[in-house]
Amino acid sequence: MVINSINWLFSEVVAMAVGEKITISVIKADVGGWPGHSRVHPALIEKAREVLSEAQKNGTIIDFYVTYAGDDLQLIMTHKKGVDSPEVHGLAWEAFKKATEVAKELGLYGAGQDLLKDAFSGNVRGLGPSVAEMEITLRKSEPIVTFHLDKTEPGAFNLPIFRMFADPFNTAGLVIDPKMHMGFRFEIWDILEHKKVIMSSPEEMYDILALIGAKSRYVIKRVYPKEGHPVPKDEPVAVVSTEKLYEVAGEYVGKDDPVAIVRAQSGLPALGEVLEPFAFPHLVSGWMRGSHNGPLMPVPLKYATPTRFDGPPRAVALGWQISPEGKLIGPVDLFDDPAFDWARQKALEITDYIRRHGPFEPHRLPSEEMEYTTLPGVLEKLKDRFEPIE
Ligand code: F6R
Ligand code: MG
Ligand code: MG
Repeated sequence: MVINSINWLFSEVVAMAVGEKITISVIKADVGGWPGHSRVHPALIEKAREVLSEAQKNGTIIDFYVTYAGDDLQLIMTHKKGVDSPEVHGLAWEAFKKATEVAKELGLYGAGQDLLKDAFSGNVRGLGPSVAEMEITLRKSEPIVTFHLDKTEPGAFNLPIFRMFADPFNTAGLVIDPKMHMGFRFEIWDILEHKKVIMSSPEEMYDILALIGAKSRYVIKRVYPKEGHPVPKDEPVAVVSTEKLYEVAGEYVGKDDPVAIVRAQSGLPALGEVLEPFAFPHLVSGWMRGSHNGPLMPVPLKYATPTRFDGPPRAVALGWQISPEGKLIGPVDLFDDPAFDWARQKALEITDYIRRHGPFEPHRLPSEEMEYTTLPGVLEKLKDRFEPIE
């Protein structure tokens, strides 16, 4: 009887919480590497934890987790303040500032590298850090995956996100789950022209691919369900950070190592369908000096430590359940699984092969993309030596 009442009480509390809106914010910055650009020193993680733990006590955030991917300090937070909250962004800024102080004390490499402005003005966008955030109505059970990439750019997510939400050869649910059969909508940004477009899959699949195949210009920002899906139409089911560091800094200061949040299951890609695209180590831009194409290697956290030629680029996937109170139940280090050994092996084969091209394209990025790197500085001195042919 007592147990029954407790069960009833519990299900009531859960029922009350289902339907509440929670925001998940993943904010990251490179505020110093150890050594070089390879990984984050534990003291920086500790400092960020201290700052966020204080904020959790005073109620700014519900829960948090601090980790790293390569040289990027990663803050994962839940709260009720919505996206672009000055309070939450201010908190991330404070954590990065304090971690920078520690990086300076320890003499870490590139201390404060991604904090491109001195003053915080309500939002970290445009100041250096990268952000992926979504405000969602919690489902009865809310499984999510946060992705953390190092030594690459936001467009690295185009192929895997497309495959999760639009490719029936990846996601069986698109064919055999009635809740997914109508497909999804993609919000695609033209990051050069600062414009966006919403496109519908499968109807406009070829047009979507015509854009996002150009991964350095068109990037998937969000994915939305369609009318009739159990998730409200205006709530994202995936979101990717799309900040462009060179635009803020005016010169190359590091690639915009991106993060993403993806919701899974119950009419969305199953966890295994969310991870499946990473079994193929596709080529992404980034790697050494942000100037090379190379394979994206899915790794557990312990291997999120790019070493060979500052790479190859890495992808970490952390799995979470969001509790009815908005707590982060996790992380589960999802690529820590022999099922991804082959992808890692393949990535290493590709690494060997493509590295032998040295400074030649297509290992080195095409000229248009080198514009945003340190190459123009080298070419400058040759400018006056060119003369017309005939
Ligand atoms: C890539 C990256 C590194 C550096 C490289 C040179 O995003 O961070 O590959 O570009 O180690 O770094 P500097 O110029 O700082 O010596
Ligand atoms: Mg760095
Ligand atoms: Mg990095």
